[in-house]
Amino acid sequence: MSPTHIRCISGPNLQLLGMREPDVYGRESLAEIHARLEKRADALGVTIDARQTNHEGTIVDWIGEAPGHGVTGLILNPGAYTHTSIAILDALSAVALPCIEVHLSNPDAREPFRRRSRIAKACVGRVSGFGGDSYELALEGLVRVLARRRSHA
Ligand code: DQA
Repeated sequence: MSPTHIRCISGPNLQLLGMREPDVYGRESLAEIHARLEKRADALGVTIDARQTNHEGTIVDWIGEAPGHGVTGLILNPGAYTHTSIAILDALSAVALPCIEVHLSNPDAREPFRRRSRIAKACVGRVSGFGGDSYELALEGLVRVLARRRSHA
């Protein structure tokens, strides 16, 4: 059985976490969130590679190459591309890996333009509104989804 390997991708402006609108996104940096994720992944017996880019095409590349890199599941916070990117939706549909959509804030409680997620259709679930904890909760959920799929395989 292949090992569980998860890729976590964060999109534009998330490198600014910690200083970016702390009332909305909290004071934790992305490096701190990634460190937390690695610790939790270790405890859950899975591996994770967590990365960030400001570029839509790079997100599409990282999703498209994921199966070839042994990735078995995705955690994805596409930032503002959540609300616009059909290219990311198509990449997720193409690779058909289980993906959890993640947001630090709760987009549904914000401006109307944040209420539409273009990628939701290709995701098994969404965790939003828990600050940095959203990432860790998404990891927990994804590991359960993957374990369930394995036991039904
Ligand atoms: C976000 C929510 C998006 O609406 C926003 O554009 C972001 C961050 C979040 O994590 O809460 O950049 O994805």
